[in-house]
Amino acid sequence: MDKLVIEGGRKLSGEINVSGAKNACLPLLAASLLTNEKCIISNIPDLKDVNTMLEILTQLGREVIKKGTTVEILPGDVKEVTASYELVSTMRASIAVLGPLLGRYKKAKVSFPGGCVIGPRPIDLHMKGLRALGAEITVEAGYILATTRGLKGTRIYLGGHFGSSVLATANTLMAAVLADGRTIIEDAACEPEVVDLGNFLLAMGADIEGLGTPTVKVRGVKELKGAEYSVIPDRIEAGTYMIAAVITDGKLFIKNAKVEHNLALIDKLLECGAGIDEEEDGLVVYRKTRNIQATDITTLTYPGFPTDLQAQMMSLVTIGDGISVITEKIYPERFIHISELNRMGAEIILEGSTSIIKGVKKLSGAPVMASDLRASAALVLAGLVADGKTEISRMYHLDRGYEHIEEKLSAVGAKVWRVKE
Ligand code: EPZ
Repeated sequence: MDKLVIEGGRKLSGEINVSGAKNACLPLLAASLLTNEKCIISNIPDLKDVNTMLEILTQLGREVIKKGTTVEILPGDVKEVTASYELVSTMRASIAVLGPLLGRYKKAKVSFPGGCVIGPRPIDLHMKGLRALGAEITVEAGYILATTRGLKGTRIYLGGHFGSSVLATANTLMAAVLADGRTIIEDAACEPEVVDLGNFLLAMGADIEGLGTPTVKVRGVKELKGAEYSVIPDRIEAGTYMIAAVITDGKLFIKNAKVEHNLALIDKLLECGAGIDEEEDGLVVYRKTRNIQATDITTLTYPGFPTDLQAQMMSLVTIGDGISVITEKIYPERFIHISELNRMGAEIILEGSTSIIKGVKKLSGAPVMASDLRASAALVLAGLVADGKTEISRMYHLDRGYEHIEEKLSAVGAKVWRVKE
């Protein structure tokens, strides 16, 4: 297991290019199962999770050709409709093949994804959406078995205890595009990744209205064709590097970062004392105030503050003036980074799903470990500003979601390297 070593205390400056969005391209790749024509998807990041999804498509019988950041999915009939435990257990997003398999092949067998270090991650809303469309679903021997004699459009309310669901919306949408008649998904997720999936489906010939709003209307079509499509930039990767500029008191041009995808983050960074200038093809981000200012954040569904940037913002305010408060409303248990940040000298306490962060003057490097992607990113940010050396073990978490992170950070002046173990 590789680890990442950082010698902190360097101001970052220069340009960082944002890669294609992991959470947009995973369901998009799954959507290629909805046609038997060739799909060409570009701006695909080089990430472990993407490779897992490509492996699933291959296991399902598709030929996949990867050329740099472009992936071609060639015609070829799916013989096996099974997504195995071995692959699904390494990546929850594999559940995104359920909707397309059911829509196109009328059956699917997908391993039940199970729990996750960021807390319980039920799939009741996925099942609710697909059952409403006419699927029969059972769980046997750890697998979700779904069959249908033919999906039929209907009105579905898809809101859950924590608001809308990104992947349940994606699954329902992918099943509905080939269903008979009209489907209306109420309380659909509005995240840019869902809009991107919808735009890909439109390019394939689907009939969808209302993308990016809580009411998405789909009129089923008989079949979908192949399409060429480019994935949106990764707003969470962009956001992580925006925070890196501010925490290190540096100045970065984050190429491809989009204001409209990062409104809540920008609002909070400005409150913390950042300066942010919009350029045609990205954002220039730097620190304006001498010290980082305290803030309060509540994670919400889009366009609220994203849970996937909660840990990284926590690192920022650990060295802020005063007391910050961060409340997690999407995954109330997503706080595994707190104990590691405290090992680096932060002063954070947790009350239920609210964390109270008392700003300290400095952090100090330490060996740390986090068993989640975004928590690991938070430790990278803390390591960049800490005194001395930080060693982050289990680097494979970062490799799941941040393309070539050590190269990107080194290129803007960070002293960071990977140690192979
Ligand atoms: C997506 O997961 C992302 N993953 C997550 O990114 C992200 O944290 C999350 O959306 C929220 O933005 C991908 O897109 C691959 P949800 P998803 O269903 O769709 C509850 C990362 O680090 N819920 O929108 O699985 C759920 O427990 C990751 O890149 C149900 O109750 O998340 C949560 O409280 C981690 N029942 C809330 O909804 C369900 O059936 C939102 O989760 C499904 C979800």
